[in-house]
Amino acid sequence: MKILIIGATGTIGKALYNSFKEEYAEVYAAHRNSKHYPVDITNSTSIANLFEKLPKLDIVINAAGTAVWKPLIELSEEDYYVGIRSKLMGQVNLVHIAKDYINDNGVILLTTGILAEHYEPNAVALSLINGAIHSFVNAASNEIGRGIRLNVVAPGAISGDFPKDKKFANHLPITIEETINTYKQGLQTTNTGQILKKY
Ligand SMILES: NC(=O)c1ccc[n+]([C@@H]2O[C@H](COP(=O)([O-])OP(=O)(O)OC[C@H]3O[C@@H](n4cnc5c(N)ncnc54)[C@H](OP(=O)(O)O)[C@@H]3O)[C@@H](O)[C@H]2O)c1
Repeated sequence: MKILIIGATGTIGKALYNSFKEEYAEVYAAHRNSKHYPVDITNSTSIANLFEKLPKLDIVINAAGTAVWKPLIELSEEDYYVGIRSKLMGQVNLVHIAKDYINDNGVILLTTGILAEHYEPNAVALSLINGAIHSFVNAASNEIGRGIRLNVVAPGAISGDFPKDKKFANHLPITIEETINTYKQGLQTTNTGQILKKY
């Protein structure tokens, strides 16, 4: 099994990398500041360049992407575009490019979050993007072809990044272990178009 993890130095990506390294022979860690596998998901050419460097993969996981945190009344059009270029179109473009480099019956796993369906102050732009990705996965998974599965993990706030006894989006944070197990479910399920919610 050959696995690529994008965002591999982040809270989620690093834990995924450390866990998958124990299980699989070839795990590639990519992120913007990587020495070996640099990639910027806001740039399609950069995504394609990364895949050109790698062998054909079985699994591609994305745990990278940002958006602007601000109250609604302060959000400018350009603020929205930050997240649209990064977490939304970064992941959409990744799917378009990865599907041509991944093996038959491979898996592409994206990341959204609880904000797709639960309110948290200052997170309107994140909510918009997470919801859009869920709709994209729901539809695109039907057309991706060659048995490739397209799923998405929607974690709640992760304790460590957020106080573990304080509610975020009206839910208590989850542990990083629970989060990693949800990604593993997203890989193991034979279903496609799944939104795996953990919160
Ligand atoms: N942490 C949480 O509690 C939580 C909860 C729910 C959902 N999420 C979502 O999960 C995703 C990952 O969150 P996280 O907290 O693990 O992130 P993080 O700790 O901020 O790490 C982000 C990772 O992605 C890389 N990265 C950032 N921008 C990139 C880009 N444009 N292209 C390629 N790589 C990029 C970073 O490395 P470089 O700087 O070197 O690129 C780093 O490896 C985000 O979409 C976030 O909204 C997080």
